Amino acid sequence: MTVETQTREKTRVFITGNCEGLNELGDALGRHSELELVGHADHVRDGAGALTGGHLQAVLHATRSSALPADEIAAIREYTQAPIVLLASGEASALLEEALDADVADVLLLPQLTENVVFAIRKASHAGRRSKDGRVRGNGRVITVFSPKGGTGKTVTATNLSASFAKYAGKKTLLLDLDLQFGDAAIMLGIEPEKTIQDLVTAPGELDPEKLAGYTTRHSTGLDILPAPIRPEDAELVTEAKLVRLMEVAKESYEVIVVDTSPFFHGPMLATLDQTDDLLLVCGLEVPTIKNVRLSLQTLQLLSFPTERVKVILNRANSNVGMKKGEVEAALESKVRFEVPSDRVVPLAVNRSNPAVLSDPKSDFGRAVREMAKTLLPAAAANGKRRFLGKNGS
Ligand SMILES: Nc1ncnc2c1ncn2[C@@H]1O[C@H](COP(=O)(O)OP(=O)(O)OP(=O)(O)O)[C@@H](O)[C@H]1O
Ligand SMILES: [Mg+2]
Repeated sequence: MTVETQTREKTRVFITGNCEGLNELGDALGRHSELELVGHADHVRDGAGALTGGHLQAVLHATRSSALPADEIAAIREYTQAPIVLLASGEASALLEEALDADVADVLLLPQLTENVVFAIRKASHAGRRSKDGRVRGNGRVITVFSPKGGTGKTVTATNLSASFAKYAGKKTLLLDLDLQFGDAAIMLGIEPEKTIQDLVTAPGELDPEKLAGYTTRHSTGLDILPAPIRPEDAELVTEAKLVRLMEVAKESYEVIVVDTSPFFHGPMLATLDQTDDLLLVCGLEVPTIKNVRLSLQTLQLLSFPTERVKVILNRANSNVGMKKGEVEAALESKVRFEVPSDRVVPLAVNRSNPAVLSDPKSDFGRAVREMAKTLLPAAAANGKRRFLGKNGS
């Protein structure tokens, strides 16, 4: 790997469709140092996994049609909001005309110099950071806590981590409870919310930061929470399209968004994955959990989710149950990034509705969570207050 590619993240691109000259272009793009070609699917639907979970910065769609491939563009949009660059060959004047009003960032007629295509992709991905209303997209960091098993410690992790960000790092933090049927993040924080995510997504009108602020509930640490619906049957009102918009707006309003989840790879989780910067995968020391975490890692790979964003947490790491970290790592073929000990303060804190990291910050558990928070969001990053400290820190 060159120094250049280490310092600048590559632009992640997926190709759909086909046209004259695409094979040669695809080969050249695959070799280009600034791009990461995630894959190619002739038919948009065959690329669903990568389009949804692949964290794409651009989609190249190749078409043989001389008119705008509106159906294919709509199909791509079902999976991703990434900017679309159309590739066409031959006579395409109708297409060029129609593309002006369509949801495409650019149109290129092949053949083209590879560098021209790379420039168009970079330009599109750059502009893609603006939302449709022209506002620069927020760059709040999205940290999603997931585990394919119930009871492994997702909610304990999400609540303690978010409280830690708000209280000890002074970050503007949102805790989003996407365990839509049985979410209990609010209870663990001792919050009795008046409004939930269900009220937000069913309220009339466009969502913007002001509106979002009207539906969150503030915790004493300064942490804001958007709780899960009160009744399980209301979960389905929270559609993927609503979630995509909610995440966009949350990233404008907050420095960090911690997402608690349910143990399923369902639609809302996939929509969240596409916006996730760090996926904390909670594992335990039990064989069935390890098996399912391993399957989750494989699923994430099938979805082309970037491997470097997955961080395995070993919860209750010190439990004496005849299994060690090394064995978990061997079974998962993946490193454990964070170890969190089993600690009596946790169930006590859960029952008192006050996160252990607040009630017992110096406990083994409290220290582990604060350490994890620091690693995930180093203090120098985006903490406006600190930037202005003098040289000697005063
Ligand atoms: N590190 C720990 N030490 C001690 N107890 C723990 C620890 N982590 C979790 N627990 C206990 O396990 C219980 C379940 O944890 P939690 O609710 O976070 O799991 P979950 O993965 O969110 O489950 P679900 O899938 O049902 O939402 C907690 O109530 C807590 O008492
Ligand atoms: Mg939970």
